Amino acid sequence: MDYQLLGLVICLLVWAVLVIRKERCHESARRHASVGHKKTASPPPCGGATSVTAGAKAVAVGGQHLPTGLAPPRVICEAGSRAWTHHDPVARLDAYRGVRSRCIDRMVQFIKDASASGTVAIDVRRFFFLMSFNLIGNLVFSKDLLDPNSEKGGEFFCHTEKIMELVAKPNVADFLPILRRFDLQGIKRETHFHMKPVFEITGGFIRERMETTAGGCAEEKSRDYMDVLLEFRGDGAEQPLSFSSTSINTTILEMFIAGTDTTTTTLEWAMAELLHNPRTLQKLQAELRIVVKLNQKLEEKHVENLPYLKAVIKETLRLHPPLPFLVPHRAMDSCDMLGYHIPKETQILVNVRAIGRDPQIWETPLEFKPERFLKPNIVDYKGHHFEFIPFGSGRRMCPAVPLASRVLPMALGSILLAFDWIFADKMDPLEMDMSEQMGITLRKAILLKAVAIPHNE
Ligand code: HEM
Repeated sequence: MDYQLLGLVICLLVWAVLVIRKERCHESARRHASVGHKKTASPPPCGGATSVTAGAKAVAVGGQHLPTGLAPPRVICEAGSRAWTHHDPVARLDAYRGVRSRCIDRMVQFIKDASASGTVAIDVRRFFFLMSFNLIGNLVFSKDLLDPNSEKGGEFFCHTEKIMELVAKPNVADFLPILRRFDLQGIKRETHFHMKPVFEITGGFIRERMETTAGGCAEEKSRDYMDVLLEFRGDGAEQPLSFSSTSINTTILEMFIAGTDTTTTTLEWAMAELLHNPRTLQKLQAELRIVVKLNQKLEEKHVENLPYLKAVIKETLRLHPPLPFLVPHRAMDSCDMLGYHIPKETQILVNVRAIGRDPQIWETPLEFKPERFLKPNIVDYKGHHFEFIPFGSGRRMCPAVPLASRVLPMALGSILLAFDWIFADKMDPLEMDMSEQMGITLRKAILLKAVAIPHNE
């Protein structure tokens, strides 16, 4: 405890010194302002109070890159993401429809089992997490990692879950990079501890795969993301000739980190907002029960006819973008923007949460009103409408938008069709705690707990 206090005091002192130095630099820059600089305004805060998400870097890029900054890992991630884009274009997504549906069915079954007594409130987030984790496990390894028969899968799940928790933890070193080497909160040390077994397990899966596919490519119909990474051949210039096992391990871990928490957090917020707004919940369940006939289950083909369901997902992403500052970007060159000078290497964080709540763009921005997305000429999240970019935009945009836009409505719609949801203690929905917990992902601070009552049983 004393060490933590001491660390905090040192941080504050170093921070004060840096701020004074930075202010002096800005002052001198203002005095020597060159063409394009706005002489009257000081630069926007970069890498200061808005650097909260940088803790992700420590994990997403693999511990081996920690001290070197963003540049080297971005190369790996970019190649990995590109491989993902090749692996998962819209056409191929159809081939995985069965896998998605199976993972969602299992989630519904897990909820049924957990709610067997009928009165116990369940931790809804946990079930979304299991579903998204198993889904990515299937897309990457073609394995049900959470199958009770898969011992390695269970171990992989425990360590990855821990790593994700560490990713979400605010890290003082992200505010003050000078402190990175001291690892005051032990985040780096703990992350390394959990990454070792994760890499051992993925290494084992890779070896297993190389043995089974020795002498040829995996058959097209059974190719998963690991096959794509193993078969990748780059030009040796901008891309590597092939991926080393370290790069493959890192990229796979990145997929789990990037895909699981974002999906889970969005679904938990969607359920929280629906329970907080019972009329919206009723309206959505009515839409679902008209389109999907009694005793049928929700299928992807139904989603096209469920505009309100899609609007609920969009409204959730507007109010609660799971990555509120996207993933940190870095200016490759100096540039001038809106009258401000951005020096080369500046870390840029885009505050999509603030954009989604800007009263100049959105009417009654703090209200959960999916109806706003039913209007003609509505905005979409594909990166062209800058007032709504929960997946980012441009080259570094999330490569999994087509996947997420299928999974999110299917997962939410399925559990709303299968169950009616109530609070265990008859709590007034207006009294629900809707506060956020700041981290790399913007989770709900208090876990959502609700009772699932099987519908029509
Ligand atoms: C609700 C669902 C999701 C949301 C809101 C979301 C959002 C984002 C955002 C904002 C970024 C950073 C974009 C930027 O900085 O400009 C990103 C990157 C990324 N996402 Fe997603 N994501 C979601 C689901 C997924 C899933 C399911 C996967 C994988 C299976 C995935 C894989 C990735 C990867 C690999 C990157 C890094 C891309 C790069 O560095 O070039 N995401 N995502």
